[in-house]
Amino acid sequence: MILSPSLLSADCGNLAATLKNLEEAGVKWVHWDVMDGQFVPNITFGQHVIKGLRPASGLFFDVHLMIERPERYLSDFKAAGADMLVVHVESTVHLQRTLAEIRRLGMKAGAALNPATPLSSLDYVLDDVDMVLIMSVNPGFGGQKFLPATLRKVAELRAKLDAAGRCDCLIQVDGGVNLENTGALVKAGANVLVSGSAFFGHPPFGERLAAFTAAAC
Ligand code: DX5
Ligand code: ZN
Repeated sequence: MILSPSLLSADCGNLAATLKNLEEAGVKWVHWDVMDGQFVPNITFGQHVIKGLRPASGLFFDVHLMIERPERYLSDFKAAGADMLVVHVESTVHLQRTLAEIRRLGMKAGAALNPATPLSSLDYVLDDVDMVLIMSVNPGFGGQKFLPATLRKVAELRAKLDAAGRCDCLIQVDGGVNLENTGALVKAGANVLVSGSAFFGHPPFGERLAAFTAAAC
């Protein structure tokens, strides 16, 4: 299991130091929640902030775009240093083109589904994704309660990916992930867990990472 801490819950005044501390604690990925105030009600940071912090970190930058028409900004996020771009299927009309363009630019491509969006929306793009992000809350804010239907959705997605010969495709879960649901999520087939409040609210980072790792077994 890969833990991808969400900087939405970190101290935004000290992101460079936080990134350094995460790396020293043994974390490998970090999750950037980009919000535009349109696709979701909240506004956070964008490509300029990510670009400014790229030199401060060797972590894998997992960038979750909660923005309308993300296809307008793919090359900007590449230039900012994103390693993976995850777009919402609900946010772009030409999903396949958007995913192919992310890969063409040299990044890993991910597709995210809101809680009410069916898995069938991915049926014809399964070969175009390196990761599927299953939202376990309605996106926009940290600290929300995990929606239990997520577990069934993850298990069904794992079966669908395996049947399509995509055992290599990662499943990420984001929203309300904590030590209590980590074991069940991994058992259902999740590979990458995003955690905001349940991670940053409990320093030190090294001990919290070890607790999540133990909960995944
Ligand atoms: C929600 C974001 C999440 C959020 C998770 O819209 O996509 O990444 O930061 O935070 P927690 O873990 O607190 O639910
Ligand atoms: Zn996220």
